[in-house]
Amino acid sequence: MLMYGWMVWVEHAPERYDWAVKVMTFGRIDRMKDDIAEHIQAGDKVLDIGCGTGTLALRCIKKGAEVTGLDASDFMLKEAARRAAESNVSDKLALIRDSVTQLKKHRDQLADDSFDVVTATMALGEFPQEYLEYIIKDCRNILKPGGKILIGDECWPRNIVIRTIYRMLMTVFWIPQFLLLRRPLFPIRDLHAIIQNAGFEVTGSKVYRGTSFRLVYGVKPPEKTPAREPAMTVQQATGQAGEA
Ligand SMILES: C[S@@+](CC[C@H](N)C(=O)[O-])C[C@H]1O[C@@H](n2cnc3c(N)ncnc32)[C@H](O)[C@@H]1O
Repeated sequence: MLMYGWMVWVEHAPERYDWAVKVMTFGRIDRMKDDIAEHIQAGDKVLDIGCGTGTLALRCIKKGAEVTGLDASDFMLKEAARRAAESNVSDKLALIRDSVTQLKKHRDQLADDSFDVVTATMALGEFPQEYLEYIIKDCRNILKPGGKILIGDECWPRNIVIRTIYRMLMTVFWIPQFLLLRRPLFPIRDLHAIIQNAGFEVTGSKVYRGTSFRLVYGVKPPEKTPAREPAMTVQQATGQAGEA
């Protein structure tokens, strides 16, 4: 939570964001993005959710992928576009400004069964569990059968001692952090189960020493996706009012 909170705070200065996050996470966030890029193959169509300044997207493009980056922040997307232009790969990066809860609105760019890989790093910690389940199910629709999902985020530690220390830190810092950022942040309780419940086969996971970061990867079973359920909004799915 503390690292995620720091990341959200430095989002207000996208040009310094990557440097600030690297320092705070002792470089672990870069290692996570490198690990994700290892799974990308030339020709892959990748959707990066909460793409931020595009650092993961650029890694995937270097591996020969075409990337669609979705983010709710104009500042972050502008920085991602600037970096893609600087690296002469603007034609490989499409950007969508919207919330991840609104994927259905972008069916022209995010059609069912059309992506090889969906990724997200440190982008889902603002959603309570019910939203996460909805979002990951929606990602499943977009992936081709056999497509991969790779989600890295701040998660509740599994080790009882570390979890107890983490809980104590949460108790002390959650309210000041909320007051500072005006956004509630939720370390993910069981990312593995969320991905599995969304209909993926979980194929591996990795924890990053000294942090509460966990990377979980899964595969959409290679049978044809069943017909999409009648269109539902996230509010209907979660029984809540308003947009996330
Ligand atoms: C902590 S940053 C991580 C950025 C990037 N994935 C990385 O690892 O460097 C979280 C990102 O998620 C984006 N974000 C937050 N809420 C979002 C939402 N509801 N839909 C889409 N993007 C969102 C923020 O704008 C920000 O760019």
